[in-house]
Amino acid sequence: MPPLMERITDALSAVRNPRTGADVMAAEQVRDIATTVDGKVRLTLLLAPDDDATLVRDVRQAVERLDGVIDVRVDVRDPAQSEPTPARRAPSPPMSQSTAQPGKSRALPVMDAAPAPKPPPRVPDPVQYPNLGRIIAVSSGKGGVGKSTVAVNLAIALAKAGKRVGIMDADIYGPNLPLMLGVDAAPAVRDEKIIPLEAYGIKVISLGFLIEKEQPAIWRGPIVMKIITQFLRDVNWGQLDYFLVDMPPGTGDAQLSLVQATQVHGAVVVTTPQQVAVGDALRGVKMFERTAVPVLGIVENMSYFENPETGKPIAVFGSGGGERLAKECDLPLIGQIPLDPRIQEGGDTGRPIVDAEPESKAAKMIQQVAQRVMERLDERYR
Ligand SMILES: Nc1ncnc2c1ncn2[C@@H]1O[C@H](COP(=O)(O)OP(=O)(O)OP(=O)(O)O)[C@@H](O)[C@H]1O
Ligand SMILES: [Mg+2]
Repeated sequence: MPPLMERITDALSAVRNPRTGADVMAAEQVRDIATTVDGKVRLTLLLAPDDDATLVRDVRQAVERLDGVIDVRVDVRDPAQSEPTPARRAPSPPMSQSTAQPGKSRALPVMDAAPAPKPPPRVPDPVQYPNLGRIIAVSSGKGGVGKSTVAVNLAIALAKAGKRVGIMDADIYGPNLPLMLGVDAAPAVRDEKIIPLEAYGIKVISLGFLIEKEQPAIWRGPIVMKIITQFLRDVNWGQLDYFLVDMPPGTGDAQLSLVQATQVHGAVVVTTPQQVAVGDALRGVKMFERTAVPVLGIVENMSYFENPETGKPIAVFGSGGGERLAKECDLPLIGQIPLDPRIQEGGDTGRPIVDAEPESKAAKMIQQVAQRVMERLDERYR
């Protein structure tokens, strides 16, 4: 078999940019291909504002299909950004009533608007949003470990502790807050500001409220920044004490966009006990450290299953992962949430466990996590 790098460039030579008809290799849209011996691939894709965002998926899939590739990461860049002009902050249009077109009331203007004459600036100075209170990112390296579950239940636990809480879905590729919170409607727009929805005493905004269900979640990298900024700036959050951000898995665009868009006061990193999840979570922790966001603590989710007959814990996914990670990073393990079928049920039916079964072990544990998060933030920012 030819070397991996050669197979990657061959595969990418077969991926055509629908706009230009040229393949992405010949058009030099792909840069900085890097591979590891164990089959992880990372590359940069230059995507112009008029390029079709499906290209990101096509590029990823072309590489994913290759034998021996276990992981593909595509960093999307705006070609204009590679030019050495200094980034300048230009006003971007706020979401406004104009989004409410007949028959298309839930489309986001950034998606179907004609391409702007100039690509939007990508790296503004972080803006402070004092009305949001303490901004907390809930993140993980690996997908499916329970970030959204933790974020939603943590938000409700904070609200139950008397705090004013907002939560935003930064997982624009697979927004799942609407399902988990059982709210799904097009938010109203008043005075050019979006009114967040409310559920269980918390304010919520999710891209899931704004896009058509059938619309494939294909977003250009540069747009991630724009959406995140609009969610922070153009939503009428009122005055909050805590603002939670449910991140997509990984350490990609959305994570960086968020920390570039505003000051994140702290991160909660979620892992499961398995070694793979722990390894990925470690990368997540490192990313926050690099961007000077304090990690408030590690939450181990699906830690154990309680045998209903004996009450004894069974380590379904192995044990000790959270603790190892916490030790390695010198961070506190602020919670171990058991595997509980009611969590999944509640997630699927829009009844988060902290509200539905407040006396359960899992709910109590999440309440404890909320306490620890508040304490850790108070220690840091008085
Ligand atoms: N402690 C738990 N016990 C039982 N089920 C759980 C638990 N935590 C999460 N789940 C279930 O696992 C699934 C994945 O959880 P969730 O969507 O919160 O993960 P995620 O990290 O946000 O995933 P993604 O990376 O896709 O955003 C969901 O169906 C959820 O209900
Ligand atoms: Mg999620």
